[in-house]
This record gives sequence, C-alpha cells and structure tokens, in this order.
Amino acid sequence: MAEDYQMPKGDLMRGKRGIVTGVANHQSIAWGIASQLAAQGAEMAFLHLPGMERRVQPLADSIGVKVLVAVDVTDDASMDAAFETVKAAFGEIDFFVHAIAFANKDELKGSFVENTTREGFARALDISAFSFVDCARRASAMMPETGGSILTLTYMGSERAIPNYNTMGVAKAALEAAVRYAARDLGPKGIRVNALSPGAMKTLSLAGISGGRGMLAKGRSLSAMQADTSMEGVAGAALWLLSDLGLSTTGEIVHVDAGFHIMGFREDEAEG
Ligand SMILES: NC(=O)c1ccc[n+]([C@@H]2O[C@H](COP(=O)([O-])OP(=O)(O)OC[C@H]3O[C@@H](n4cnc5c(N)ncnc54)[C@H](O)[C@@H]3O)[C@@H](O)[C@H]2O)c1
Repeated sequence: MAEDYQMPKGDLMRGKRGIVTGVANHQSIAWGIASQLAAQGAEMAFLHLPGMERRVQPLADSIGVKVLVAVDVTDDASMDAAFETVKAAFGEIDFFVHAIAFANKDELKGSFVENTTREGFARALDISAFSFVDCARRASAMMPETGGSILTLTYMGSERAIPNYNTMGVAKAALEAAVRYAARDLGPKGIRVNALSPGAMKTLSLAGISGGRGMLAKGRSLSAMQADTSMEGVAGAALWLLSDLGLSTTGEIVHVDAGFHIMGFREDEAEG
C-alpha cells in the first residue's frame, strides 16, 4: 500500500520533466520527493534497482509515472540502456534526483579502522559517490540550453564521526565534494547541482546500519527542534532546489534535519 503523503499542490513543476532514482518502497526518500514533484505537476521517469518492480510499479502508477526502467549503477551497459530509454521517451530533461547509496552491512558497524575492507570501501564509494558523477554527466547531456537542476542526498556522517556510519561517512564526504565540482563544471550551462542532508529517517537504508534506531532517536532528542526529520520537510526542500525557486542556489549542502547539525550540547546538560 502506497503511503499517501499530503504534499502541497501547485504548478511549480508544470511543464518540467525529469528522472528520479532510488525509489525502493513507500518509505524511500526518493518516493517522498517524487510525490511532491508530482503534486506540483512534474512528469517523471523512475530508474530503480532490478528486482524492485513489484514494489515500485504501484507507487509509480499512483502518481502517473509511466516510464520505469531498471538500472544497476555499477553496470555501464545498464546505465547506457536506462538513459537511452528515458531519452527516447522524453528527449530532454529538466531535473535529476540521485537518491542512491550502498555499503556492505559489515562495514556499517563497530570500529571503522578495523572493519573497513578494500573491497567494501571501493563498493561503497562506487555506488554512493561515483554513481552521482556518472549520473550528473549523463543527465546534464540531456538538459536544454536553458539549464536544469540536479539533486543528491547526503548525511551529516560526512562531516562528523557518527557511530557505525563509518565507510558511508567517507562516501558521503566524497559525494559532497563531487557536488561542488559538478556545480562548478555545469554552472556555465545554467545547470545547478545541490545536495540535501536530511536527519535520520526510517527507510530500508537506515535498517542496514547497525544501531539505526539509535540514530533516529538521537536525531530527535539532540535536534534543535527535538523533532524527527519529516518526509514533507525533505520533499519541500527538494521542490525548492529542483524548481525555479532555487534559481540562484548551486553547490550547496542543505541540512534538513530539524536543526541536528547546529547543536553543541543540550540546555539541560549545560550545568555539567
Ligand atoms: N534514511 C536516512 O536516514 C537518510 C538520511 C540522510 C541521507 N539519506 C540518503 O538518502 C538516499 C536514499 O536513501 P533512503 O534512506 O531513501 O533509502 P532507500 O533504501 O529507500 O533508497 C536507497 C536506494 O538506492 C538504490 N540502490 C542501491 N544500490 C543501487 C545500485 N547499484 N543501482 C541502482 N540503485 C541502487 C536502492 O534500490 C534504493 O532505492 C541515500 O543516498 C541515503 O544515504 C538517507
């Protein structure tokens, strides 16, 4: 059953076409973003991991997404075929959402120094950071002369040492640097490149991290707002950056975490 977010309706994305990656189920951040974009009139293609059709198809149907393509970002032939399919359907695109990350479970727990392997490190960086560069190259080639907008998803584990996040934190640091370099390259073409950095949210990806529940609970109790990060808040920020509202913003990492990243320690801990 699709989760029915009540996203604000309007015309901010009317006439715009784009690609959304990373929808796995109704909890996916990409699904929240796609729901908001659809409510504002966007036409989309979904690129999903092979084998996810059964879950993704009903979600796509519920918001009128007709182009669904399986893609494994580690496979060049699969990437070529997926982008060709979207090109045949849409011609040009105005926006691209990269919501893809992966690290082996064994690397997402305990000691970063002891548990990080050469193979696991390379795999995490390939899927979670290089795939963004590859997507940015392919997506920007399909954007019109008037420009476009590319968005990815990161997490504060890139900036600070978060328990168990380990290799993924390093991958996210690479991803955030890639956002700045891509923004520099694509800026003259009118293509903006940004990242959202949400607080912990209950998704499949979080379930893969040892102590994921703790990340959720701490995200709430240690944030300025003492609140969870909401899908609506993340989707709203995505709408800003993907629509013309975000016209002069590029190369940014925008935190959408109820103020988790700004905190030192809490008021009630100030007395020591
Ligand atoms: N959930 C959180 O707490 C949180 C917080 C901040 C940032 N993020 C980021 O948001 C993004 C989306 O994650 P999510 O939390 O919605 O979880 P999710 O599991 O729903 O989404 C991750 C997606 O990556 C896709 N994927 C993995 N390997 C792939 C491959 N080889 N080829 C193609 N697709 C592949 C999966 O199919 C899935 O759709 C990720 O970059 C994640 O790191 C998540």
